[in-house]
Amino acid sequence: MAAFIPFKLSLLLSLLSNIGFLPETSKNDVGIFPPTCNRIECPSFDLIEVGNGYEIRRYNSTIWVTTSPIQDISLVEATRTGFLQLFDYIQGKNKYKQQIEMTAPVITEVLPSDGPFCESSFRISFYLPKVNQANPPPAEGLHIQKWKSTYLAVRQFSGFVTDYNVGVEAAALEASLADTVWSAAIKKSQKDETTSVYLVAQYNSPFEFSGRVNEIWMLVDLEDELLPV
Ligand SMILES: *[C@@H]1O[C@H](CO)[C@@H](O)[C@H](O)[C@H]1NC(C)=O
Repeated sequence: MAAFIPFKLSLLLSLLSNIGFLPETSKNDVGIFPPTCNRIECPSFDLIEVGNGYEIRRYNSTIWVTTSPIQDISLVEATRTGFLQLFDYIQGKNKYKQQIEMTAPVITEVLPSDGPFCESSFRISFYLPKVNQANPPPAEGLHIQKWKSTYLAVRQFSGFVTDYNVGVEAAALEASLADTVWSAAIKKSQKDETTSVYLVAQYNSPFEFSGRVNEIWMLVDLEDELLPV
């Protein structure tokens, strides 16, 4: 009888980790459903391929509300600055004085940097809920970005996003994609000076300490999928 317990336990653990209760202990780099998305709206996507350490997703057209570029030496600080603008926006600081439901993830685009003072440039975006997509409320200083069908290479990690670990995770994603059919299309998307090198997607508020899910996204440029409007 005792011999069955480890098996049952490991089955239970793997079931739990698949539905997102145990992301902290899971060693997967992909395939975790963010628990946040049970509570608030997240953009849906199609899973195209699950590879070793990465997954390829396709998001159909999605609409994002995006800050202007924010210069900072810290991604964490830039995200905080940008998020405060987006938080005002959803609280009604927009042209229609409309309150908007919170969604996930909040994404931080890391833009190519050419500044002399180690500053980088970031843009922070909020996924606009479906009910608002037909008529996105404009707001000063914010931009409505419409993604056409977009392919992304994704790696997940848990815990808190820090200025140190984003680089490590992005490098790990890039390494896992080397020698795959996707590698050339990702390099192509990074060559353009106006598009992001990678993005960091965060699904949790700073005050949630368990079940945290973050993702590194790299655009897969199959046919100019990302167009600002
Ligand atoms: C995305 O669009 C394709 C083609 O129209 C459709 O088959 C698929 O179900 C859509 N996926 C999602 C997540 O909406």
